Amino acid sequence: MAVTADDEEFAAFERRGWARRSATYHDGFGAMTAGLHEALLDAAAVGAGIRLLEVGCGTGRLAARALARGARVVATDADRRMAGAAAAALPGALVRTARLPGLPFAGAEFDAAIGAFVINHVPDPPAAVADLGRVLRPGGRLVLSCWDTAERNRAQGVFFDAVAEAGAARPPGVPAGSPFARYAGPEALAGLLRAAGLAEVRVERAGWTHRVDADRWWQDVLDGTVLTAALIEGRPPQEVERIRAAYGRLAARYRDGFPAAALVAVGTRV
Ligand SMILES: C[S@@+](CC[C@H](N)C(=O)[O-])C[C@H]1O[C@@H](n2cnc3c(N)ncnc32)[C@H](O)[C@@H]1O
Repeated sequence: MAVTADDEEFAAFERRGWARRSATYHDGFGAMTAGLHEALLDAAAVGAGIRLLEVGCGTGRLAARALARGARVVATDADRRMAGAAAAALPGALVRTARLPGLPFAGAEFDAAIGAFVINHVPDPPAAVADLGRVLRPGGRLVLSCWDTAERNRAQGVFFDAVAEAGAARPPGVPAGSPFARYAGPEALAGLLRAAGLAEVRVERAGWTHRVDADRWWQDVLDGTVLTAALIEGRPPQEVERIRAAYGRLAARYRDGFPAAALVAVGTRV
């Protein structure tokens, strides 16, 4: 499917958003995504000596765990400030600013590639998956995660419900959704990997609990997401207050932690 003007607009919106997140992501939203990182490393069979490419590495949490397993790590992110934060945290890795698709690597260079919560941010998911397949050696493994439905992934779903409960319309200039929305279910996601020529494809559901105080989580999401935060930030204060009040009521049921839920897709380069 061709990249549309809306997809390009989404990509530009994302770039502007992530450029403002590198200082606040790590200890906030990044502490939540980290709940899945060991499972992603296991799915990619990351161990000593494995040549791993991580895309959309953010501040480098997953790459740090891969290094601790003895992997040889190349970590990339589209945002140079994120890549800078990752480089500072990962003296043992090669860190580069690189956008997906368009990876600056020759073919067949890596034994494994992981993208943790990045495929939902790219303008052209089929081209991105094809690019990832290209840089894997035959037999190399690709592992991608994305968010499950808002009903399952309550850590974010509670924000969408709060916006709806407050009756707040989508602010002008905020994209309706990601181009990845077309692939955000198990069947479609598996199809995306197969269409890129990957074999032995499987998509599984994963869930964990993010234990965090509700007030803190409100701020973490505002400071560590792009599209979700854009539904709230920049509104008149009384509208933000209405959404915040609805969030407070809805979040009260998650005192023991917010359920987080993802899809994990695995495929092998033929
Ligand atoms: C939700 S964060 C995930 C970070 C990290 N992987 C994690 O698990 O916490 C998304 C990251 O993808 C990066 N990103 C967004 N669009 C990208 C693209 N087209 N190519 C590569 N990275 C991108 C952002 O800069 C951001 O660091």
